[in-house]
Amino acid sequence: MLRRDFIKICSASAALATQPAFAARDLKPRFYTRAQLVDARRQPLKASTLAAGQNYIFHYPFEGTPCFLLNLGKPTLQKIALKTENGGSYEWPGGVGANNAVVAYSAICAHLMTYPTRQISFISYRDQSTASKITRPNMIHCCSEHSEYDPASGARVMGGPAPQPLSAILLEHDRGSDALYAVGTLGGEMFNAFFEKFGFKLGLDYGADRVKNRVAGQSVVIALENFCKQQVKC
Ligand code: FES
Repeated sequence: MLRRDFIKICSASAALATQPAFAARDLKPRFYTRAQLVDARRQPLKASTLAAGQNYIFHYPFEGTPCFLLNLGKPTLQKIALKTENGGSYEWPGGVGANNAVVAYSAICAHLMTYPTRQISFISYRDQSTASKITRPNMIHCCSEHSEYDPASGARVMGGPAPQPLSAILLEHDRGSDALYAVGTLGGEMFNAFFEKFGFKLGLDYGADRVKNRVAGQSVVIALENFCKQQVKC
């Protein structure tokens, strides 16, 4: 049986249960069907093979909801207190893998839900600032209206109009095999509004009968440049 690393998730749950300051409004992790992250050949993806600074896309918890997978190349902060637009409080536990550097977030911008499509992406992680200097280094930046999120601290909003952090995808890391699993979300989900706003387009891209299917078993991880034809970097 695989040795699974539940420490992050358990510590998050424990912290949520014991912090009296957040007691009334604590957001609990939402657990969905567990899905192993795999490469394009559907072989188990190893956390140590993720290139630092590279944008990877996978889909979770639904077949039509894209997420970023990132190796930040340095330790993430731990136990970050965050709030949603509605005042819900939660504690992001930190990254997983070596140096806790691997993180995952919903790629749906918390402002007006810009997201990476097969055709174009206005939102991505940049480990360096762009030539325009609009984008600061080591941030997830949305070029629609310049919302900026810090992936090393739970995708906290660092600039722009976004009213809340990106929803975190909870990862499980198997230290023995170095495998990664997506198991749930933490923070302000926007999936219902996302399906409502982009349902027609999502149906064309993913298949109308598949968009809202829960990902089960596996989720394929693809480098952003292979997922999407054009990346806008403002
Ligand atoms: S949709 Fe991303 S900043 Fe407006």
